[in-house]
Amino acid sequence: MTNPSLLILPGDGIGPEVMAEVRKIIDWYGTKRDMVFDVSEGLVGGCSYDAHGTPLTDETMEKAQEVDAVLLGAVGGPKYDDLDFSVKPERGLLRLRKEMDLYANLRPAQCFDALADFSSLKKDVVAGLDIMIVRELTSGIYFGEPRGIFEEGNERVGINTQRYTESEIERVARSAFELARKRGNKVCSMEKANVMESGILWRAVVSEVHEKEYPDVELSHMYADAGAMQLCRWPKQFDVIVTDNLFGDLLSDAAAMLTGSLGMLPSASLGAPMANGRPKALYEPVHGSAPDIAGQGKANPIACVLSFAMALRYSFDKGDEADRLEAAVEKVLADGVRTADLLGEEGVTPVSTSEMGDAIVAALNASL
Ligand code: NAD
Ligand code: IPM
Ligand code: MN
Repeated sequence: MTNPSLLILPGDGIGPEVMAEVRKIIDWYGTKRDMVFDVSEGLVGGCSYDAHGTPLTDETMEKAQEVDAVLLGAVGGPKYDDLDFSVKPERGLLRLRKEMDLYANLRPAQCFDALADFSSLKKDVVAGLDIMIVRELTSGIYFGEPRGIFEEGNERVGINTQRYTESEIERVARSAFELARKRGNKVCSMEKANVMESGILWRAVVSEVHEKEYPDVELSHMYADAGAMQLCRWPKQFDVIVTDNLFGDLLSDAAAMLTGSLGMLPSASLGAPMANGRPKALYEPVHGSAPDIAGQGKANPIACVLSFAMALRYSFDKGDEADRLEAAVEKVLADGVRTADLLGEEGVTPVSTSEMGDAIVAALNASL
């Protein structure tokens, strides 16, 4: 049997810094668990633009289509702010998502006990929190046409279009219901059916899928603005939240702060199953390239490490090893190891990105 293949795209800013820690963990699984991955590396984002004049080459795109899973760090940075829109670093990531058809973006927000005191919300609001945001990732206002900046009379007009087809809503709704069945059996769908036609269709289609295929799952609907408020007020009322591309982007960043830091939140972007039965998949932290701390060894690698744990679970059918890695992260946090973004307690000295990676590897060793 051939080894499972992984394409690693570290990207820009803190992307390569956090990915270096994931490499240590991948190596650990190779030597200690006999799980050897066939790893290749490529460029995406600003670094690809610097090398090739495009944020993603066709060769890298093809490679991403062939491998069992892609792991991505982060893209973007102020250096690229003035580039033409078509070659901005973010376009590379969006092309990967679109061409791989990764329509279901799973963004879990889990509050580790050791960090419950650290959230900007009260401890009892976040302790034990475990929710899953399912964000539609390949359609909506991110991709709808018409789009652009046009001249209209004597002024410019910027246009983006929110567009959802029935089948796009159906498939992401199914992903959410399937996940809910393995968790708390509850889905809350968020849109703005009060002001947007796409929201009216979203609500109707989610309800139809529910009625026909998942009547055993509890379904509720919420306007996305009220949902944002409820996420801050009492997030534990939710199990799975399903929402569109733009609302999902905003709500998942907000959910990140429930867990203590944006540096904690992993994600999995999944598409339809490939010939080998594995879903097309890309794993990446929810955070960006964090230009303010890049190059200083301060970045928290946990979001990227937990993204690899999601790869073990969703691409490689190694739920037990994913549990092991998540438990190792939990242990390190319980031991009081903190990168600078997680400080807050008196007298705790932060560890570097690399020291956090080493601590997780040590916890993995202790788990054997
Ligand atoms: P960001 O997520 O990069 O940073 C927001 C804040 O969170 C910063 O203060 C940063 O220091 C902190 N932070 C983020 N990740 C952290 C980590 N792992 N450890 C410690 N602190 C962390 O968002 P931004 O500043 O709005 O965007 C910067 C660039 O990243 C932009 O070019 C943006 O387009 C891009 N971006 C990329 C992705 C991605 O690649 N998936 C996601 C979001 C933003
Ligand atoms: C994310 C990011 C991306 C998005 C950008 C970088 C394209 O914010 O992954 O959450 O808006 O989807
Ligand atoms: Mn985002």
